[in-house]
Amino acid sequence: MNYQEYYQSSLEAPEQFWEEQAKSIDWFKFPDSILSTDEEGLARWYRGGQLNTCYLALDYQVNNGRGAQTALIYDSPVTNTKETYSYQELLEETALFAGVLQGLGVEKGDRVIIYMPMIPQVVFAMLACARLGAVHSVVFGGFAAHELAIRIDDATPKVLLMASGGIEVNKIIPYKPIIDAALEEATHQPQACVVYQRAFVKADMQVGRDLDWEQLRSKASPANYVKLEATDPLYILYTSGTTGQPKGIVRDNGGHAVAMHFSMKNIYGALPGEVYWAASDVGWVVGHSYIVYAPLIYGCTTVLFEGKPIKTPDASTFWRVINEYDVKVFFTAPTAFRAIKKEDPSGQLKKQYDTSGLRYLFLAGERTDIATLEWCEQLLKVPVIDHWWQTESGFPMIANMTGIDLQKIKPGSAGQAVCGFDIDIVDEKGQPVTANEEGILAIKYPLPPGCLPNLWNDTARFKSSYLAPLPGYYFAGDGAYVDEEGYLFITGRIDDIINVAGHRLSTAEMEEVVASHPAIAECAVVGVADDLKGQIPVGFFIMKSGVMCEESNIEQELIKMVRETIGPVAAFKRAVSVERLPKTRSGKILRKIMRAIADKQTFSPPSTIEDISVLTELERLMRNKKIGRIGKID
Ligand code: COA
Ligand code: AMP
Repeated sequence: MNYQEYYQSSLEAPEQFWEEQAKSIDWFKFPDSILSTDEEGLARWYRGGQLNTCYLALDYQVNNGRGAQTALIYDSPVTNTKETYSYQELLEETALFAGVLQGLGVEKGDRVIIYMPMIPQVVFAMLACARLGAVHSVVFGGFAAHELAIRIDDATPKVLLMASGGIEVNKIIPYKPIIDAALEEATHQPQACVVYQRAFVKADMQVGRDLDWEQLRSKASPANYVKLEATDPLYILYTSGTTGQPKGIVRDNGGHAVAMHFSMKNIYGALPGEVYWAASDVGWVVGHSYIVYAPLIYGCTTVLFEGKPIKTPDASTFWRVINEYDVKVFFTAPTAFRAIKKEDPSGQLKKQYDTSGLRYLFLAGERTDIATLEWCEQLLKVPVIDHWWQTESGFPMIANMTGIDLQKIKPGSAGQAVCGFDIDIVDEKGQPVTANEEGILAIKYPLPPGCLPNLWNDTARFKSSYLAPLPGYYFAGDGAYVDEEGYLFITGRIDDIINVAGHRLSTAEMEEVVASHPAIAECAVVGVADDLKGQIPVGFFIMKSGVMCEESNIEQELIKMVRETIGPVAAFKRAVSVERLPKTRSGKILRKIMRAIADKQTFSPPSTIEDISVLTELERLMRNKKIGRIGKID
């Protein structure tokens, strides 16, 4: 079957299609129903099915002859460490850590928050939770204490797992002070905090609360996997929404396992036994799906890389890793290659490495710009595949399904719809627009297995954010257009979310922080185009009358506040004072127009604009202050 036929079959008979896919994994009990509706009116896949995700990732692989195969390669240029774990070893470590958790009273359904860098222990911890049916929630290390506190209060974990610190290029980041501050701010307190001490940074332990990882491990006995329902949650992953409160995306066990297996085979075109590398972080969905779960469920070897594309030690790191481990499929964000290209434009550093084993390079997290796509193609001589998805989906929704048949690549497009995703481009009323006309990306509900069934403890927000905007559809939050051949081109978010270096952030959340500064009357934070990171946030603020403060001092204070409240990952490094902000007569700030001015894009001001002259004022200011593309000398 070719891609078109396969795709059509998934839309014509979805239950049959996903029943067939479900047969690829080893259930303890095959589902009674493929697709059903729950008491909240939401779609649920594979009810009645019983399985265990950790069993599929480890025990099943060992039982089927992969015990000696390398499951995990840990490569850490920042600590000069390389380790490998076979499937058998990874199973032993995981079962032992599951024993640690069990000893702390962790049971099916309990939540466990994990705040750890890219070290093998984070993989043991995630899989150990899955083994017991505990719901993990990994928080990315670049988030500050306040963000961690929000997640602690929402997920109410029984246990918090952490490492003493991480390394950012050559800077040691102690984690313990961040965690202590988060626990001070949070209302909910976990029963125990387990600390993995790294050699280069020691965490101070709080007696009665903090426990040493290694000590617990040395006394633990391995724990077995438990039988879980397909609809039981595997994890919660918080992602930026359009308010200060992040959304707790829930992933269930059954749909996720099927989607992971399906995508490795049909989208990434990987083969069991091969090395698959996603250079991301376990704190993001890419890390959950394609560093931890999918490669293991599919019997591949996964790479856990603790470093950056540049400076660890230089821009040849990626080529070294691909060469050294014979990586067959590689996945990262376009920004990583823009960083490499900036340091080594002609790709000289690549010459000393043989990357001929590589089959595909997949890029996501932001649109792949054509210059980066072509640069990668010329250097690596493999298909470079942009593909689109979100934390919510857990696996690609638009891609090139290389495992079925490699489709032609259209630079600038994220590809065609993945099986099971019935995508329309519509106007604000939900009416499909014509080919090549920009509109809102809408996906027929229900979404396929693996996608979020709900938000953690917030069905009302799930419905209002995703289902209410366009009845009958899942509202993804992106704009797009589709050409005559069904290729989709993503034009960017249509809400207050921005993508900075492949990281999803909320400008509304940054605005909340900026607005809390005592000297500020009003503000807007806008994502403007950036050559390296894709987008960066810029704050525009109006000072309260009578405040006598240097603009540069306020800027520094705001940068510090955003860094301390949201985290360094927000990359909030510019804030400028303005006299006025562009608004409609009803007082709505025209952020989209501010972004268009910064990005030098054409726009038509709405007829409801309060005073059009503010746009010229803003344009002049951005040019003078060298903000965005308008501030660049051509
Ligand atoms: N813990 C603590 N701090 C972190 C962190 C972590 N896990 N991750 C990032 N940070 C900090 C960085 O140190 C930096 O701080 P600084 O302002 O003091 O320099 C800030 O957060 C921004 O980090 P980052 O976005 O990584 O920018 P960078 O300038 O350090 O590096 C790139 C730029 C392009 C090399 C880097 O962003 C990158 O490798 N991107 C790939 C993105 C990716 O994998 N995305 C996942 C989706 S596939
Ligand atoms: P996240 O949930 O962090 O994975 O971010 C999802 C968002 O990133 C999407 O809604 C898009 O806005 C953006 N995104 C991800 N992949 C792509 C891509 N290939 N092209 C354009 N935008 C993308």
